[in-house]
Amino acid sequence: MTLHVCEHPIVKHKLTRLRDKDSPPALFRHLTNEITQVLIVEATADLETIPDIRRTPLADFDGARLADRIGLVPIMRAGLGMVEAAQNLIPTSRVLHIGLFRDEDTLEPVYYYDKLPEPPNVDLALVLDPMLATGGSAIAAISRLKETGIERIRFIGLIAAPEGVEAMEEAHPDVDIWLASLDDHLSEVGYIIPGLGDAGDRIMDT
Ligand code: PRP
Ligand code: URA
Repeated sequence: MTLHVCEHPIVKHKLTRLRDKDSPPALFRHLTNEITQVLIVEATADLETIPDIRRTPLADFDGARLADRIGLVPIMRAGLGMVEAAQNLIPTSRVLHIGLFRDEDTLEPVYYYDKLPEPPNVDLALVLDPMLATGGSAIAAISRLKETGIERIRFIGLIAAPEGVEAMEEAHPDVDIWLASLDDHLSEVGYIIPGLGDAGDRIMDT
C-alpha cells in the first residue's frame, strides 16, 4: 500500500477553512468539492490511455482517451459530498453507491445500502469518503467491492487517522490511499483529532 498525502499549498489553505468549526455547510461542501478535484487528479495521474484519433479544424490528431471503465464509490452519506467533483472530472465514470454508518457505541460499520452490479461493470473503483477514522467503514466497503469481482481499487479521502491507515494496510495492502491530510490520532470515542468533526453532519447540515 502506498499512502499519498497531498502537499499542495492550495489544498492546505482550503483544508484549513474546511476544518474551521465556523465554516457553514455551503462553504464546507464547496471546499470538499474543490479539494476532491485535486485529489482525483493526483489519484488518476498514472492511468493508461488508448489512442483516440480525431480531426481538428486543421489536421488529424493522435489523441488519447481513458482506457479503464472507472467507478466512483461514495460511502454514504459523507462520500456523496465528493461525487460531483469526481464525476465532473471523469464524466464517463459510473457511480456505485454503498451505504454504511458507524455504530456510535461499537464503532463497527453497519451496512444499509448496497446496489453493486455483479459481475462488475468497472475496471477501477475510486472509493470516496472524507474520513478514514478506525478504517472500519472503508475496509468493509472495499471488501464488498472485492466480493463483486473488482480487483483494482483506490481510496480517496480528505483526512485520516494513523490508526485507520494502519488498519487499511493490514486489511487491504493492495489498495493505495490519497489524502489531503494524515492527522494526529483518534479520540477515545473514535473521532479524528484535530479532524473536522462529523463530516456527514457538516455536509448534509444535520
Ligand atoms: C463517517 C465517515 C466514514 C466513517 C469513518 O461516516 O464518513 O464513513 O465515519 O469512520 P471509520 O473509519 O471509523 O469507519 P458516519 O458513520 O458518520 O456516517 P455518515 O457518513 O452517514 O455521517
Ligand atoms: N467520522 C467523521 O465524520 N469524523 C471523524 O472524525 C470520524 C469519523
